Amino acid sequence: MSKSKMSNWGLGLAAAAVALTLSNSAFAFDTSADKSAPKVSGIGMNITDAAIKPWNISYFYDGTNLPDGSGTVSAGEKIYSAQCAMCHGDFGEGAHGYPKMVGDPVDQFEASAKAGVDAVSNRGLNNNWGNAPTLMDMIHRAMPFYAPGTLSVDEAYSVTCYVMNLASIPGVGDDFVCDKTSLPKIKMPAEPLYVTNSGPDTDNTRCMKDCYKGTEFVVEKAASIGDVSVGKVQKKDSQ
Ligand code: HEC
Repeated sequence: MSKSKMSNWGLGLAAAAVALTLSNSAFAFDTSADKSAPKVSGIGMNITDAAIKPWNISYFYDGTNLPDGSGTVSAGEKIYSAQCAMCHGDFGEGAHGYPKMVGDPVDQFEASAKAGVDAVSNRGLNNNWGNAPTLMDMIHRAMPFYAPGTLSVDEAYSVTCYVMNLASIPGVGDDFVCDKTSLPKIKMPAEPLYVTNSGPDTDNTRCMKDCYKGTEFVVEKAASIGDVSVGKVQKKDSQ
């Protein structure tokens, strides 16, 4: 990682940390919105519903919990230019090592991944994002990176609409309106690559003795997103 890239990431993280600290303290002492909130006594207080609300975002892949409100591609374009393009590129091509919005076509991306070549830096909304509601979730929860939680619902819908338009997601034309009804109907190109497994995280039989069965996983080499490394894990039989 070059020094300039490193400092971009560092600055971004520092800015996000400052934004979080500021907004946390703003909420922590703002009991005016909720009269039933406990008075500050001693050190600390129970967190209020009003304080939790901006961070309590979980829009599921099928549209569950998507809020009322709506946004357009054209409104999203203005927000994107002002708050997103500096990191994700004017045309979604990525900037300063931050992720692209527009990656390789999905079949090419899948073929690269299967061939084991570095496909990670060519990921985009058109090849690795399974569902539009979770894209809205990511943007509303975490973007812009330096000030997460600052987009209103309509702004989040608008910029979600714009980045899908930028990535040529089928059906998201210039006049498309994003809301809780339209988002779940969008077929993201990468949707068939995702499986929903609601089973347990682990499914192992307890073992206390001679448990090693001869297969181990090793990090073989690094792939990268811009200049950020991600380990490539490969199965290796070492016996
Ligand atoms: C300071 C730089 C920065 C700005 C500004 C920024 N982002 Fe991001 N964005 C990032 C980083 C870093 C990630 C990767 C975060 C991760 O993977 O956890 C990311 C990830 C994303 C992703 C997921 C990409 C993927 O394929 O995984 C989307 C979508 C996105 N940003 C949209 C936006 C939108 C919309 C805005 C403006 C409202 C915005 N970003 C502003 C840095 C930024």
